[in-house]
Amino acid sequence: MRRKAGAIGLVVAAAAGAAAGLGACSRSAPDVDMSRPRDEGVRFSSVETLVKEGETAYVRHCVGCHGAAGDGKGEAATFLFPKPRNFTLAHFKFSSTRSGRLPTDADLKRSIRNGLKGSAMPGFSALSERTLDGLVAYLKTFSPKWGEQDAAPSIPIHEDPYRSNPDKSEAIRRGEVVYHGYVTCWSCHPAYVSTEKINEYLVACGSESRSGFRPNLDGVEVKPNVEGELVYPTDFRRDFVRSGSQIDDLYRVIAAGLTGTAMPTWVDAMHVAAKEPGGPPLVQPSDLWAMAYYVQDLIAQRPPKLKEGGYALRSRPQWISLTGEPAPTPPEKQEAEAVEFIEDE
Ligand code: HEC
Ligand code: HEC
Repeated sequence: MRRKAGAIGLVVAAAAGAAAGLGACSRSAPDVDMSRPRDEGVRFSSVETLVKEGETAYVRHCVGCHGAAGDGKGEAATFLFPKPRNFTLAHFKFSSTRSGRLPTDADLKRSIRNGLKGSAMPGFSALSERTLDGLVAYLKTFSPKWGEQDAAPSIPIHEDPYRSNPDKSEAIRRGEVVYHGYVTCWSCHPAYVSTEKINEYLVACGSESRSGFRPNLDGVEVKPNVEGELVYPTDFRRDFVRSGSQIDDLYRVIAAGLTGTAMPTWVDAMHVAAKEPGGPPLVQPSDLWAMAYYVQDLIAQRPPKLKEGGYALRSRPQWISLTGEPAPTPPEKQEAEAVEFIEDE
């Protein structure tokens, strides 16, 4: 199997080199006769050349996990959790666009360049911009969605009122209120305060207090993704945040949501008017920043060992059969409720 994949890789690389002709690959083929007229019929447009270059890089760096067909079923995929992305479905989680919309090229390049911490996806920061562009162009050939939909806009970045103040304690305090009292992030992620506090915060954000809460409120509520695989909402004190822990990364993830997972887009929903006319709003767009600072503070509370390198931050279910027998279906998978997703328009 491995041999076969290697052979395909070589064939594809050779084909790309030959087909690109006088393009970028000519440097590695100095014996091409430059004096002969070029055959316009076989010359690739610059986009096609880019896709070819992307294919070559893909075969070299990505195929073992994402698979030759781009379906996420590379040879290593059996052993990975979460699974490598299936590019034929084009559900990209880490996007600056609203949930359900295709990501921008910059979003894809960011994931490829930086990798996704806490998953098997490595960072490819050593690749050139040109190669990253090629990979992005090639990834798009796996799904017809890219040809069918207009490019989606990135979400608005509201002004960050806390940016210039080095002391973030006000932002963190406000974030704790909004995280628990308005957006109820704890319906999937853990709650980090008592139920009495949650009720106090719910009222402060204009809602009613509650009498019942989900069991295991300081744990996470496992949710299936659009492909039916279980996804663990992050426990910020234990798990890695995949797409970056800088404040702008956290704003983007919280505001835009994660396509294909239960995590929705919040950026359009951050308004609650004051109870009294003329009073300050109870919730406003800048509260997205407050939540980002709050989450960043939770991340900073990780035990130092986990901060440094840390693997297996929580015990993951054993879904992999080491004996060759089919792995048992995890019980949660059978019980997990379906979640509604906003699909692409
Ligand atoms: C060792 C395995 C591995 C290799 C090699 C690998 N990936 Fe991934 N990749 C993953 C996994 C696992 C995920 C899913 C992570 C998650 O769901 O959080 C992923 C996710 C992605 C995503 C999705 C990001 C999003 O927004 O959802 C992109 C794009 C991607 N990989 C591109 C690439 C490219 C391009 C290469 C080669 C240059 C590559 N990957 C190589 C394992 C790998
Ligand atoms: C309906 C369930 C749900 C709600 C509500 C929810 N999330 Fe999430 N969130 C998820 C899931 C599921 C993931 C993990 C996705 C994954 O790893 O594939 C996630 C991941 C994240 C991440 C990590 C992203 C990364 O790059 O790894 C952050 C940060 C986050 N959520 C913040 C929030 C905040 C803040 C709120 C409240 C405003 C919130 N979430 C509300 C389900 C939810």
